[in-house]
Amino acid sequence: MEKTKVGIIGLGTVGSGVAKLLLDHGDRTARHAGRVLWLEKAAVRDLAKPRGCDLPDGILTDNVDQVIDDPEIEVVAQLIGGIEPARTLMLRLLKAGKDVVTANKALLAEHGPEIFDAARELGRSVAFEASVAGGIPIIANIGQCLSANQITSLHGILNGTSNFILSKMHDGDDYAAAVSEAQRLGFAETDPAMDVDGTDAAQKLAILAHLAFGARVDWGDIPRTGIDTLDVVDVRFAQEMGYKIKLLAVADLVESVSGQGGLELHVSPTLVRAGSPLAEVSGPFNAVRVDADAVGRLLFYGPGAGQMPTASAVVADLIDTAVGRTKLTFQTLELWSNRAARVSAAAYAGARGRFYFRAMVDDHPGVLAKVTQAFGDHDISIASVLQHEATSQGDPLPLVVMTHETTEGAAARACQEITRLDCVRTEPVRMWVRD
Ligand code: NDP
Ligand code: HSE
Repeated sequence: MEKTKVGIIGLGTVGSGVAKLLLDHGDRTARHAGRVLWLEKAAVRDLAKPRGCDLPDGILTDNVDQVIDDPEIEVVAQLIGGIEPARTLMLRLLKAGKDVVTANKALLAEHGPEIFDAARELGRSVAFEASVAGGIPIIANIGQCLSANQITSLHGILNGTSNFILSKMHDGDDYAAAVSEAQRLGFAETDPAMDVDGTDAAQKLAILAHLAFGARVDWGDIPRTGIDTLDVVDVRFAQEMGYKIKLLAVADLVESVSGQGGLELHVSPTLVRAGSPLAEVSGPFNAVRVDADAVGRLLFYGPGAGQMPTASAVVADLIDTAVGRTKLTFQTLELWSNRAARVSAAAYAGARGRFYFRAMVDDHPGVLAKVTQAFGDHDISIASVLQHEATSQGDPLPLVVMTHETTEGAAARACQEITRLDCVRTEPVRMWVRD
């Protein structure tokens, strides 16, 4: 059988999984590729670190040039995180004539146009199935399998770490302990702040929005709130009212006033009705709900992070690249090309939905009247109010208000007004509600 020589840069959680699949299951990859995917070199920083896989002699190096400058290596899985040196290495690999497979969504969301332009100019390809939702084949489905459709909506649980932490909090565990556990299990980013502040989900949403809607959105412009703002008291209230809190990444195509389509995008902790499919996605699992005009509603569910699920997506990309499929789709999709965007972002303030508010208020006469008046002043109708008796006198009490449908702008203005009330101790917590 012919050989395609493969290089890996980065042999951490994901890279070691890729090496295991290539080395231990070469027969499987050869059957699908019609050729042997031969692991030639793997570059790391520290040769002394254990890798959790049996690497034949001569494969491991701490010199990336041995991968980049080896003329026999045709395709490289670039599996280091962050922006630099990942960006420079990516450009060097493309210039050296390699096709590249990556799982690095931060790099693509930040430097997609530069990297994809370089690949097109050099006649190379970049495959990135593992960059969104780990083991779920969402990039291929949205980029290719749904091409006959106009996608109208994408709602996703895209950050496994946040979902894992939220699941633990719903089970009564502590936030900090759940973060450490996610790091130990290998699915948190090197800087877990990027998982819990909504950055990682916004970067993945920017990639999906580009594929699904032709939107060129800067991930930094996507309104986002992470789970790091949450208190366990909100989890308890959500449970009491029949909801679960999920970090949802949302892209909805809406008609604008001018009749043109606009794309509403945001990442926010959201109360999702318990028992609905997205509410029941727990642990490090991801899910993406897609609505499209021809096919209807689809739900993709599976492991969104972790060693072998992510490696599964990387190796599928290596096979597609080795047999030439990636190059075909890469050229036709014109990813992040200079073509005008097909749709632009709609104003977040106009996005419609229901909201949960929780304020810490004094236990005094007239407090409820003042808070509810603020909602009325902004034309927001209240669906329910929840407060429990104080357990110790003088302490502020949580007051929860669930609204009927309104706009994000009105909800934000009401929140500001409530923050200014002298009976309210801190800025209220505000979350979307999806029934
Ligand atoms: P790790 O931190 O576990 O591994 C990173 C690897 O890159 C390490 O082997 C490290 O070497 C190597 N590395 C870093 N800098 C260099 C350098 N300058 N030269 C050579 N090697 C270098 O990261 P993950 O495997 O978890 O993640 C890799 C990418 O995949 C990231 O972009 C991440 O966002 C993405 N991803 C991760 C998932 C997961 O579940 N972990 C899921 C989906 C995507 P050394 O080991 O010697 O330090
Ligand atoms: N840190 C990411 C997550 C890894 O928790 O989802 C997968 O991209």
